[in-house]
Amino acid sequence: MDIQKLKEDFFNIYNRRVEDPFVFFSPGRVNLIGEHTDYNNGYVLPCALNYGTYLVIRKRSDDRILLHTLNFEFSGSYKLDKFEKNKNGEWVNYPLGVISEFIDRKAELTGMDMLFYGNIPNGAGLSSSASIEMVTAFALNNLFSAGLSILELVKLSQHAENSFVGMNCGIMDQFAVGMGQEDSAVFLNCETLNYESVPLELKGYRLIISNTNKRRGLTDSKYNERRQECEEALKYLRKELDIANLSQLGIKDIDLLEKLIPDETILRRARHVVTENNRVLKAVRVLHMGDIEEFGKLMNESHDSLKNDYEVTGRELDALVYEAREIDGLIGSRMTGAGFGGCTVSIVKEDKTAEFTKQLENAYSKATGLKADFYLPLIMDGVRQL
Ligand code: GLA
Repeated sequence: MDIQKLKEDFFNIYNRRVEDPFVFFSPGRVNLIGEHTDYNNGYVLPCALNYGTYLVIRKRSDDRILLHTLNFEFSGSYKLDKFEKNKNGEWVNYPLGVISEFIDRKAELTGMDMLFYGNIPNGAGLSSSASIEMVTAFALNNLFSAGLSILELVKLSQHAENSFVGMNCGIMDQFAVGMGQEDSAVFLNCETLNYESVPLELKGYRLIISNTNKRRGLTDSKYNERRQECEEALKYLRKELDIANLSQLGIKDIDLLEKLIPDETILRRARHVVTENNRVLKAVRVLHMGDIEEFGKLMNESHDSLKNDYEVTGRELDALVYEAREIDGLIGSRMTGAGFGGCTVSIVKEDKTAEFTKQLENAYSKATGLKADFYLPLIMDGVRQL
């Protein structure tokens, strides 16, 4: 990314060349395994990408918040002491939500000029929203010396998304974007928030992200429905067990689920959570041993469980995953993120990547009539100043 060019764009929009603005970057994330486990206080294994959101920012001497992006036409102008959520769900809600969290914490803010630029595909399940939130939170923390830790910025950003934006997400995305490390995955226990960086040594293999390019229309409502179903599972289980969340059950308890949950759909939802947590634990073990083939098998099992038990995949994601599995060089493939559209993540032998994407593009378009996009991402550090 050409930072100088970004600053030129900033000056073209905001004039006043006197003070140099600050530039921050926050990555997007891809989750390798551990899907729909975070809000059940389970395990996840995401990593931060080289794709993300840039923020050029400068304090103002008045109380106006001016927001522009190079990605969309929509821009915003607000007063610090008086702004509301944009009713049409415009992108400004992410930074505004974070600003309102800082105001709630009595941070001493002034007005600011902000220019965003993101190179993460939107609505593709790679956490463009968490990326915008975290870059805003990190920048404000620096500019106004608010003294918050990265973990506090992570929680603050998640809270902004839950309460201001109105999406009831778990903590994985903001955490990955905040804590990611180059060439490592973040192994996070969402109950304790203890985490470990697990080296991702892909010698001879590459990560490939494939975008279904299907708009994720129903994601929010279906996401909330799944959360609700997990609550229902807990209600059944609590008749006999003293547990706070589904992740307190281990793989050895799987028979208990069948005994205690009479509703077949709810049973499958709970089974996904328990088996997925177990897969994350196994995945971390095999990564430590450098066994990428075994890791790939766990990715495949994860997708199958998300399709059959959790039912969050859909025609396009399934087409990408199951067509990929027919192609030479594929080690493992699964949907990533909330599901219902968005992206898959695959591990492919390095010398087969070009042929792999070509074949998958054809097979996917035959199966769905849609054109897929492909990214070969690098795994990079979390949010930072440039
Ligand atoms: C979305 C949410 C995350 C997580 C995933 C599913 O990305 O923002 O908190 O729940 O879905 O694993």
